[in-house]
Amino acid sequence: VATFDFSLIQDDLQRVEHKLHELAAVDFPPLAGILGQLLKSGGKRLRPALVLLSADFYGATRDETISIAAAVETLHTATLVHDDLIDNSLLRRGNPTLNTNWPSGVVVLVGDYLFGKSAELASRARSIDMGELFARTVATICDGEVRSMLNGSPWAITREQYDYRIYAKTASLFATCTEAGAIVAGAPEGERALLREYGRSLGMAFQITDDILDFVGNEKTLGKPVGSDLRQGTVTLPALCYFESHPDDPALRELSSGAVREDAFDDLIDRIRASGAIAAAYKDAHRFSLQAKEALSTLPQGRARRVLLDLADFVVDRRT
Ligand code: IPE
Ligand code: IPE
Ligand code: MG
Ligand code: MG
Repeated sequence: VATFDFSLIQDDLQRVEHKLHELAAVDFPPLAGILGQLLKSGGKRLRPALVLLSADFYGATRDETISIAAAVETLHTATLVHDDLIDNSLLRRGNPTLNTNWPSGVVVLVGDYLFGKSAELASRARSIDMGELFARTVATICDGEVRSMLNGSPWAITREQYDYRIYAKTASLFATCTEAGAIVAGAPEGERALLREYGRSLGMAFQITDDILDFVGNEKTLGKPVGSDLRQGTVTLPALCYFESHPDDPALRELSSGAVREDAFDDLIDRIRASGAIAAAYKDAHRFSLQAKEALSTLPQGRARRVLLDLADFVVDRRT
């Protein structure tokens, strides 16, 4: 699977990997097995990379920075465990999800365990700001999820609701990664805000692309199911753009009435794929990617900035 070239921070990412492996080494074999499966299954490690690169502007990597990078990946893993349970997803990173093998209670508790470990790792920074940032992020992610689940008719979502939803579930954590890197490395206040803004915009572009790949991606390269968002009742940007330009599509009425046959979903997904909606959604992803780059324009020039600029292109162009 092609991933982004993080050679600049390769050694530090290796140290993060080591910390994640340590986390899995508990003295109760069933839990050790589950944690090992979760924490050693790869993934792009984008979020720890964001911490490391943001900190790289301000000098040599500290031990605390590695802990924070491991903390954000642990938090990310916890949200995936809960997300797959809620979505009833069977595949993640090419492997069966926890919820395919374990009762829901176990899956919930393992997610909570990881949230706790994430907070423990974050506390190594000995910073009130850091603690507040992590706590607020977990609450924001849950706030977004609860709102989308309890939002009455899922087919009536507005663009504003969509934007908040993807901020809450994804971009808020990206913003936390870059801000946390800035905090732990002692960045000046103004630069900390710019790095946060970079992370937020990058996260928006990333999630829109994820939502597009659910329509046009490949299950093998993504390592997770495609074509499932709409079937789950999740209206994302491609569908939103499609319904905006095709207000008379009969599927819209059927969906609202809840009387949709399985093959009707296949047809609707085909119509969305063939319409201009994918290009329209990509346009928004590119807009956020550009915003991310603009946030970097006054930050110190150098290797970290170069990689972060490339990353803004990668998150939109990726197939994985
Ligand atoms: C998946 O994130 C969840 C979303 C926010 C779409 P990633 O695509 O970063 O997942 P991994 O960690 O690389 O598997
Ligand atoms: C991201 O959204 C989920 C979290 C932030 C937990 P998705 O539901 O789109 O993620 P995938 O597609 O399952 O990876
Ligand atoms: Mg999901
Ligand atoms: Mg998705």
